[in-house]
Amino acid sequence: FPPEQVRNFGIIAHVDHGKSTLADRLLEVTGAISASDKNKQVLDSLQVERERGITVKAQTASIIYRHNNEDYLLNLIDTPGHVDFSYEVSRSLSACQGVLLIVDASQGIQAQTLANFYLTMEHELEVIPVINKIDLKTANVEKVSQEMHKVMGINPDDIIPVSAKKGTNVTSVLQAVVERLPSPNHIDKASYDSSGLLKALLFDSTFEKYRGVIANVLVMEGQLRKGDHITSAWLESKDNKAKKSYEVKDVGVLRPESENTGVLYAGQVGYIVCGMRSTSEAQIGDTLYHPKHPVEPVPGFVKPKPVVFGCMFPIDQTDYRELEAALNRLSLNDRSVLIETARSQALGAGFRIGFLGLLHMDVFRQRLEQEFNASTVMTCPTVPYKAMLKPSKKKSIKEPTEIIVKTPSELPDKVDVLYYSQPMIIATIITPLQFDADVVNLCLERGGTTISNTNISDTRVLLQFRMPMSEVIIDFYDRLKSLTSGYASFDYEEDKYEVVNLVRVDFRLNGDVVSELSNGEWSDS
Ligand code: GTP
Repeated sequence: FPPEQVRNFGIIAHVDHGKSTLADRLLEVTGAISASDKNKQVLDSLQVERERGITVKAQTASIIYRHNNEDYLLNLIDTPGHVDFSYEVSRSLSACQGVLLIVDASQGIQAQTLANFYLTMEHELEVIPVINKIDLKTANVEKVSQEMHKVMGINPDDIIPVSAKKGTNVTSVLQAVVERLPSPNHIDKASYDSSGLLKALLFDSTFEKYRGVIANVLVMEGQLRKGDHITSAWLESKDNKAKKSYEVKDVGVLRPESENTGVLYAGQVGYIVCGMRSTSEAQIGDTLYHPKHPVEPVPGFVKPKPVVFGCMFPIDQTDYRELEAALNRLSLNDRSVLIETARSQALGAGFRIGFLGLLHMDVFRQRLEQEFNASTVMTCPTVPYKAMLKPSKKKSIKEPTEIIVKTPSELPDKVDVLYYSQPMIIATIITPLQFDADVVNLCLERGGTTISNTNISDTRVLLQFRMPMSEVIIDFYDRLKSLTSGYASFDYEEDKYEVVNLVRVDFRLNGDVVSELSNGEWSDS
């Protein structure tokens, strides 16, 4: 497939708006999978995803679609919908030129629809707007089209109404992918045929026991062939002298099961196995190339920044090494976690782990249990505070110095600190109008200040607040859902730190402080 017959696209949507169902249908219509029930939601392949019905990890599938008597290679890159996983979304999108933006015909635009839409603008992607679930009795395509026009500036004529469940209009979506999305425009046409050249972006990876690291790549220039020796920009930067290279042992496309093709050409997305055995070797965002033809690396990905920290200990200390190995394996598959070692008097040796959010933490722990059979204790989640330390001769601190405090037990003595500051977020909430006042009260109660309050239709309102992150990580989402009978949707982005009056609350057991139970409390006064 020459680049002009390739389309790389993602699907983005609020949770439950039907992304996985539409992805399945696209695979089915093009014959990539059969229509039997067994194959439903093939892209949601992690056990935890099936159980929870949410997409956590981006998956990739290649589809061959015939349009106007020509075959096209459509690479579908599935993306997670939940707020905690926008890092995964962002990462998947950088391999795409366009997206399907799905909105539920009865629920309309939700907070994550907007967050995802803003991401597509950042990546300068072409958007195909889709309204799904038009088969529902409560569907209101006209109203949802108006919302999309008002809030996102989408032309209602561009919107494709579909029912992923019934299969209605699914082929129009495939046609639009071919007709409206650009082909991989970064591909230099001349480079397509040159077998000596290679520039490929490593955008995801998984681990299998016998094959080792399986890297998902987008070939940007040249070709990637079985038997090629390749190296990477990251390896080069790390150790100039070593000149380590890998031999490509297997290469192919994901349909969505891996299918060996022996070669990937410029513009194509696929997998390679090349004997990488450890987490540290398959760096997301790395550029792969032939050692004899060094290339300019693809500009770097932004590293994910954990916002929720918790400590994890094995229930039985003799399982420490096993837990460590399990964490390493899992973090290869989920690069957004940050893992450091930790020690506790009560719980022994363990790990301090940073997550992108509470759901992320929950999902990570569940995967650890299911995939690695590890039983663990996890401490109460906290956010990273900052403390500005006073200059002190005794501690050889010459000028005010800022430190990051990840757990309450690290909080320095108050007498040593000039001031503390806490991470703030900008919360975006969309709710039916009748719950407006309740939601505003909840946010004010949690230390929020109003930024905006806009009607997006005659029944729904879009609210924005600035709030302390610590107030959102514990039960904010549950409270919001119960106040609004489940109708409100919520998303957030990080904002600056703000000075705060912080104290540590310690818990004593038989007179002894148990530091794992400590938590940080803040007040306005
Ligand atoms: P996440 O992976 O959690 O982000 O969700 P998703 O967007 O992938 O949604 P999913 O495809 O899992 O669909 C959510 C629910 O909506 C499922 O119960 C689907 O059966 C249902 N659904 C999806 N498409 C349609 C549709 O066209 N019509 C109807 N009636 N239901 C649909």
